[in-house]
Amino acid sequence: MDADMQNYQGNGSTKIQQILSSYIYTEMIYVAIELRLPDILDDVPRKAASLAEIVDVEPQAFNRFLQGLVMIGLIAEDDEQYTLTEVGKSLRTRESGSIRDLALFHREVGIPTWRELLYSIKTGKPSFEHVFGRSFFDYLEEHRLVGRTFNLSMNESTAIIADAISAEYDFTGIKIIADIGGGQGGLIGSLLKSHPSIEAILFESALAASDAEEYLRSIGVADRCVVMVGDFFDRVPGGYDVYLLSHVLHDWSDDSALRILRNIRNAIPSHGKLLLVEALVQDSGDQSSFVIKRDLSMLVLTGGRERTEKEYNRLLNDARFSPRKSIPIQPGRIMIEAFPIGD
Ligand SMILES: C[S@@+](CC[C@H](N)C(=O)[O-])C[C@H]1O[C@@H](n2cnc3c(N)ncnc32)[C@H](O)[C@@H]1O
Repeated sequence: MDADMQNYQGNGSTKIQQILSSYIYTEMIYVAIELRLPDILDDVPRKAASLAEIVDVEPQAFNRFLQGLVMIGLIAEDDEQYTLTEVGKSLRTRESGSIRDLALFHREVGIPTWRELLYSIKTGKPSFEHVFGRSFFDYLEEHRLVGRTFNLSMNESTAIIADAISAEYDFTGIKIIADIGGGQGGLIGSLLKSHPSIEAILFESALAASDAEEYLRSIGVADRCVVMVGDFFDRVPGGYDVYLLSHVLHDWSDDSALRILRNIRNAIPSHGKLLLVEALVQDSGDQSSFVIKRDLSMLVLTGGRERTEKEYNRLLNDARFSPRKSIPIQPGRIMIEAFPIGD
């Protein structure tokens, strides 16, 4: 059994009861953020009554709520004074980490989508579209706040992946990289920082593109990265040495993933190469809870899926790419280097 599930104690119905009630934590964290408790408690211990007055809530209910926050470890109580714990600090507004935004994302988008999991299991289609009436990425474009939250959370996780890629892959001789669906630029930005002679383009839909420009400026690499707005289902800009496709294909069904790959194949010069970065489903044996949860999240959110290396290689072959090298970049995550074939 996965370590995630071992956190739930007991047997039979006791364990099921704990699993069933885990949504209460999402709601409690959401309310703590909504009331700005992590900011208000930052470095200043306060009594319950004074806190209740500041955040303007019913004192008795609030007292009980504070016990809940102590239980999940966001705050601690000592001599009737409440303080923020290290865990709680990650939810402060001034924290650059994505956890606070991610908490809001889970509540606003995750919960309503997962409530219709049955729809996805019966139809194989994303319940997100069933609930929100449009595709996940169209919704993000229209709801800029949620879109930013999602892009920001992707950005922060990919900045870490960039270090692993830089450590494992030799970029010598590469002049320009086209990052297709590059999000806010977390990955390409870090690669540009660690490889000062490389230039890049970042190809994205409108919202992520405008955020990417700002982000790339903020880390001082905007002069080496042109941000282009476009739709990778229509076409992909042509003629670059390296095409980077990171955590894009997992958002899509095989048919849609093939369309993206074929557009890259049409754009890539014969000397070019494609670097495909994705988390992997193992061919056999236990899957990590991370991959299983992400795979189900893809099902309900976008209609995509996590894949095995063989499945990625098959897609690459079908799009006339030859996968040459598979480079482990983190546990459970690889980069496949592939070359265009068949010209
Ligand atoms: C899961 S994110 C991956 C972002 C980044 N590559 C990374 O590894 O963090 C997928 C990206 O694809 C972009 N995207 C979705 N549909 C697109 C389209 N039709 N054309 C261009 N980009 C698109 C989204 O805006 C999003 O930033």
